[in-house]
Amino acid sequence: MTGTQIQTKKRVFIKTYGCQMNVYDSDRMADALASDGYEPTDSVESADLVLLNTCHIREKAAEKVYSELGRIRVMKEEAARQGRQVTVGVTGCVAQAEGPEIARRAPVVDLVVGPQSYQHLPKLLREVAEGRRAVETEFAIAEKFEQLPAATRAQTRSRGVTAFLTIQEGCDKFCTFCVVPYTRGAEVSRPAEKIVEEAARMAEAGVREVTLLGQNVNAWHGVGSDGREWGLGELLFRLAEIPGLDRLRYTTSHPRDMDDALIAAHRDLPALMPYLHLPVQSGADRILAAMNRKHKAADYLRLIDRIRDARPDIALSSDFIVGFPGETDADFEATMKLIETVGYAAAYSFKYSPRPGTPAANRDGQVAEALMQERLLRLQKLVLDQQTAFNRSKVGTVMDVLFEKPGKRPGQLMGRSPFLQAVQVDADQSRIGTIGRVSISGLGANSLFGELVEIPGRPVAAPIPTEVAS
Ligand code: 5AD
Ligand code: SF4
Repeated sequence: MTGTQIQTKKRVFIKTYGCQMNVYDSDRMADALASDGYEPTDSVESADLVLLNTCHIREKAAEKVYSELGRIRVMKEEAARQGRQVTVGVTGCVAQAEGPEIARRAPVVDLVVGPQSYQHLPKLLREVAEGRRAVETEFAIAEKFEQLPAATRAQTRSRGVTAFLTIQEGCDKFCTFCVVPYTRGAEVSRPAEKIVEEAARMAEAGVREVTLLGQNVNAWHGVGSDGREWGLGELLFRLAEIPGLDRLRYTTSHPRDMDDALIAAHRDLPALMPYLHLPVQSGADRILAAMNRKHKAADYLRLIDRIRDARPDIALSSDFIVGFPGETDADFEATMKLIETVGYAAAYSFKYSPRPGTPAANRDGQVAEALMQERLLRLQKLVLDQQTAFNRSKVGTVMDVLFEKPGKRPGQLMGRSPFLQAVQVDADQSRIGTIGRVSISGLGANSLFGELVEIPGRPVAAPIPTEVAS
């Protein structure tokens, strides 16, 4: 054939369900596919490749995937009538848990890839192009850490001034309700130098805040630049040295892995933001034992005291499950009492959802739906009251806000306080990516309102280091 061939770019649409790690993974998949000629699109109708990056943590999350696949089937058939071929893939934890089942239940799916095999996406897509259906659900986290490309400077920049960075994947804790040890596999830590390199690249591309991710992020360990064994605390100290990286966060943690160095980091590291998500799940010792959490309510409360001694203003959050098999009224009241004792700034709560293959799924004493619903509503009301009280306590204070993006109204920016609250401030777009001193003036439904204040002798537009934070 003669003449110029026009190479049109292929488009990929990725829909992300579930946790922040899936958000991070979706970005990495987009990065891997970019070198294969795919550009991201926000419109599923225009996509040549549709990926659903799925969550299996609760039944509802998994069911959503099948209903979405029903809609995509209609779209794919319509595209085929117009002579356009659309490839459909399922990735994430549903892919891992139900690989062959998805292929059977949803013939629309061409590709099934588990969370530890994304490095093979380009190769698997070539198999699909050759007319085969590709299913890959190997456990290979170390290989994924090694081989999945990091974002380029431009890709990082396009995603804003805050970023996630996975430092650990998998879980060895085997809580009896949880699918994660089966879908994400055994705990593997990413090497320290790779994490530092990626964080430095992010900072260099304009990222001001990094949230370190892991299913059990505080179980991270590795050999540090000094040749010694590091835990998350030591890693945070190293990351805080990276120029431009003003803020660090991490999620999600297990109470049993909060060691002294990590608590010390909360005391001594201004860049480590005063917000900690530390799930306890239940306040009843019987239930904690049945969940295999390996600690008692009193251990958790003592730990909270130590963390608050180190960082008195820390905002705490947790996950709670109501209606775990065997949960009595008294057990539930123990959870309510724990919440009252701790005083949370936020919390996430769920009705127990039996997950196939987990030890608790077939236990006696499954709690009736109506009772779970009643407990959930009571718990959520208590937590919402605490959250509102926490937010109200910040009205009238001055704090550092990292401006992330345009706000709700024109002329406004949305930023985050050190305590992860959304703050709406009248400020110019040029301030995105800077940290400003903000006087908190009011309380909205989902955010705070504030005004920029000047610090004598400091130009208003300059990014203000977090050391200034009180
Ligand atoms: N049922 C209800 N909630 C669950 N979670 C995990 N597994 C289940 C389940 N089977 C919740 C836990 C966990 C959060 C991510 O999801 O609270 O901390
Ligand atoms: Fe699941 Fe428990 Fe591991 Fe968290 S610690 S991922 S709840 S098994």
